[in-house]
Amino acid sequence: MNSQYIETQAIRTQIERTAFLEHSNPLYLTSSFVFEDAEDMRSSFAEEKKRNIYSRFTNPNTSEFVSKICKLEGAEDGYAFATGMSAVFSTFAALLNSGDHIVSSRSIFGSTNSLFTKFLPKWNIETSYFKVNEVDKIEALIQPNTKVLYAESPTNPAVDILDLQVLGDIAKKHNLIFIVDNCFATPYLQNPIQFGADLVIHSATKLIDGQGRVLGGVTVGRADLIREIYLFSRNTGPALSPFNAWVLSKSLETLVVRVERHC
Ligand SMILES: Cc1ncc(COP(=O)(O)O)c(C=O)c1O
Repeated sequence: MNSQYIETQAIRTQIERTAFLEHSNPLYLTSSFVFEDAEDMRSSFAEEKKRNIYSRFTNPNTSEFVSKICKLEGAEDGYAFATGMSAVFSTFAALLNSGDHIVSSRSIFGSTNSLFTKFLPKWNIETSYFKVNEVDKIEALIQPNTKVLYAESPTNPAVDILDLQVLGDIAKKHNLIFIVDNCFATPYLQNPIQFGADLVIHSATKLIDGQGRVLGGVTVGRADLIREIYLFSRNTGPALSPFNAWVLSKSLETLVVRVERHC
């Protein structure tokens, strides 16, 4: 993404100002939101109107953070999580069923590897791995029940680089959901959606915060898939706290200058 555009979006994307016309978005430390009357509550829960109901579902601070990441990644929608790992886990738990299969790069973050090898098999979801220098062998791993192609680039900890366009083309050809953990590149350096990713995951704990203060995670991408992830998450409770969302939204204002120095 054009650097001037990304900087402007990271600073200017803001939820509606209050009557005080504050410069910096205030913290909405509230578990829930009130209703005018019973009918207002009914129609809100029925999703006949878009509004905040309960901070496990949405909160103004998390919405601001999510909309910034969506703009920076070129995504339709997203949901913010308490940690990067809750973003990874909830994304898979929301989209996969017992009997589904994942094809993944072998070079991935350790806890994601543990999820694939120790925990998802409990629900009869298996993973086949390809080596980062053997993308030509990916298609041979695809089975009739394969649902997701997963990769990280650059990877943690080996800093391997994958050709996301090659992976995106394979995912499209075989009708797989292509998910990329973009945490090390950040949306400043790489937008996986441009290469065919359906979903992009970040551990916001890393370069998005950049100052070691808070944990956070986010998944953004196709609206239909995010809807599934949202419905799973609003019922199971991995939501990012409003305070951490406020910190992370502020962090994004300096993402470009920080990542340039890191490079
Ligand atoms: C690539 C990658 N994905 C996911 C995670 C997990 O993020 P968190 O520590 O916020 O749960 C990490 C953490 O190091 C990571 O490096």
